[in-house]
Amino acid sequence: MLHLAPFDPDFVRDPHPLFRRFREEAPIYFWPEGQGNIFFRYRDVMALLREPRLTTDATLGAGYPAELRAAFPDFVALRDNDLQTVSPEAHARIRKLVNPLFGPRALEAHRPRVAEIIGEVIDALPREGVINVFADFARRYPVQVIASLLNIPPGDEATFIDLADSLIATLLPGMPPEVFASYMPAISRGVQLVRRLVDERRAEPIEGDLFSRLINACDEDERLSDGELLSLVSGLLVGGSDTTVHLTTYAILELLRHPDQLALVRADPSLARSALDETLRYNSFGRIGGLVRFPLESFTYEGVELHRGQPVYLNLLSAFRDPELVADPDVFDVRRRINSSPWFGYGPHFCVGASLARMEAEIALNRFLDRYPEIELAGEPVYGTHPLFRDIVDLPVRVRGATAAS
Ligand code: HEM
Repeated sequence: MLHLAPFDPDFVRDPHPLFRRFREEAPIYFWPEGQGNIFFRYRDVMALLREPRLTTDATLGAGYPAELRAAFPDFVALRDNDLQTVSPEAHARIRKLVNPLFGPRALEAHRPRVAEIIGEVIDALPREGVINVFADFARRYPVQVIASLLNIPPGDEATFIDLADSLIATLLPGMPPEVFASYMPAISRGVQLVRRLVDERRAEPIEGDLFSRLINACDEDERLSDGELLSLVSGLLVGGSDTTVHLTTYAILELLRHPDQLALVRADPSLARSALDETLRYNSFGRIGGLVRFPLESFTYEGVELHRGQPVYLNLLSAFRDPELVADPDVFDVRRRINSSPWFGYGPHFCVGASLARMEAEIALNRFLDRYPEIELAGEPVYGTHPLFRDIVDLPVRVRGATAAS
């Protein structure tokens, strides 16, 4: 009998053999702990991402209940207005505003500063010895990058990281109320900080600044409500603080596990970008695949009844190892080119930060390889207990041959 235990150590180390069995034996599986069906095959995941009867809004347009509102107003203020919860019309309005600010062209202007931030983190690493790629490197730069894009002065990174960790943790289904409540103080601290930053920037706008442009959209042409602004800025800080950390860690892990592929990237740094995409395809960091949807009405898919409001889990990790996507899915190939980028989602909710994640992780990977001509794994990765990600909390890597800090 197949069973999914997302925290089982063997599963965490390598979930792909189990996912393969699910794809072959039970591609649609009712997961008792999550009270919903998980879809493992590429074709089902993509069909359901296109399905208009599924929404990202867990409240199905009804908003959060009054008791939750009264008990945890800061949490509800964020969730009520976030891109996953607002109505499709509001979503389209907000995305129209924010997409150009995070498009590849707009981001080019930030490239020198992003490279500088990453350079400073890399220069602070020892010239040789064993480093923890997660804690010493990957976790140190993305929160600084997103804060610098918003022109937020340094000093509050820990509060943003706590906000990100806590907000993401509350997305886990079936959480006991006391555990849920334990995340609220960090969320309130984060919300208070973002409110203060909005007030400060309102009082002193910065010409051409991304954050000031969002505030203008709110104050001058009312394209964004106060609540939407708070939620959007928090969402960018949350999205920007966590995901790229794991992408960087996993990319370095997979390159070290595949020395022939590492040699290709060293020989041609332009392959870093496809190496990152291949990491997201081959072994991304989701715990059970990442995306959740909710049926607006009950309907039948492939003979399975999907009930109104019951979670539908789309297992991207498994879908990307499906031979329907590529003929040799178990091969890690940094030269692979896949035109779409389904690891950043699909359709209206496609990741706001995809270009940013790619730009910063590409700079980070190339700078890291440049600094260290010799690197090798110094032990097995140690995994953490992140609710949604198979987070690596220690990736011991032996580094040698570094030149002095540049
Ligand atoms: C490795 C890096 C990243 C990966 C793999 C990733 C993946 C994704 C995916 C799959 C979605 C779609 C969610 C859905 O359909 O329900 C998404 C949405 C989103 N991402 Fe990312 N992301 C990454 C980095 C970032 C960064 C750096 C930011 C911050 C700027 C960000 C901000 C967002 C936001 C705000 C959304 C919500 C979009 C919406 O619902 O309209 N992400 N991301």
